[in-house]
Amino acid sequence: MKQEEQPVPLSQDTLKFLNELEGYGISNYMFNIPRETAEFLFRLLRGRDPYRILEIGTSNGYSTCWMGLACSDAKITTIEKDSKKIKLAQENFKKLKLKNIEILEGDALDILHRLKEKFDFVFIDGTKNEYVEYLKALNKKLNKNAIIVADNIHSHNITDYVEMAKARYNSKTLDIGTGLEVSYV
Ligand SMILES: C[S@@+](CC[C@H](N)C(=O)[O-])C[C@H]1O[C@@H](n2cnc3c(N)ncnc32)[C@H](O)[C@@H]1O
Repeated sequence: MKQEEQPVPLSQDTLKFLNELEGYGISNYMFNIPRETAEFLFRLLRGRDPYRILEIGTSNGYSTCWMGLACSDAKITTIEKDSKKIKLAQENFKKLKLKNIEILEGDALDILHRLKEKFDFVFIDGTKNEYVEYLKALNKKLNKNAIIVADNIHSHNITDYVEMAKARYNSKTLDIGTGLEVSYV
């Protein structure tokens, strides 16, 4: 039997804001992660401060908000190519008073190749047929014991990514939301 999860420890105001953001995302095609995935990320990250987090695919910042709330001392870098979505994300981070988030505007693959830093946690949620190229580009940008989570494993045909992740890392496919590949480096 699946154990009941404790509610996420966030204030009523914050949860109300996240609920509204969810509604906005559905009505405006922001393609945000489902709530189940958001809560999974929150629980996985919580207590791991200080942490360097990289996200590929910001949209309006819904998933970034959950990660920022989980790790308030972490520095998050998130990549998005759509300037209108970046503006929305910036407004959302401001409303939640999330400060340590840097948005890099442009194509994820170009940016990944130029990034000099290394990361402890990577959330991949960009263009699905680019996942393998993201993984290759991430090769030298991961700290020891880094974790990579990739979304949409069940909803999209991303078998090449899953095969590469399982060949390289200790990697498991989880039936959470639209399917997650969680890889331990
Ligand atoms: C599924 S949405 C991300 C949703 C977001 N992670 C969330 O849950 O709130 C994918 C986003 O990735 C962006 N994107 C896709 N491919 C990209 C690329 N190559 N470079 C930069 N951004 C990209 C899209 O513009 C889109 O906003």
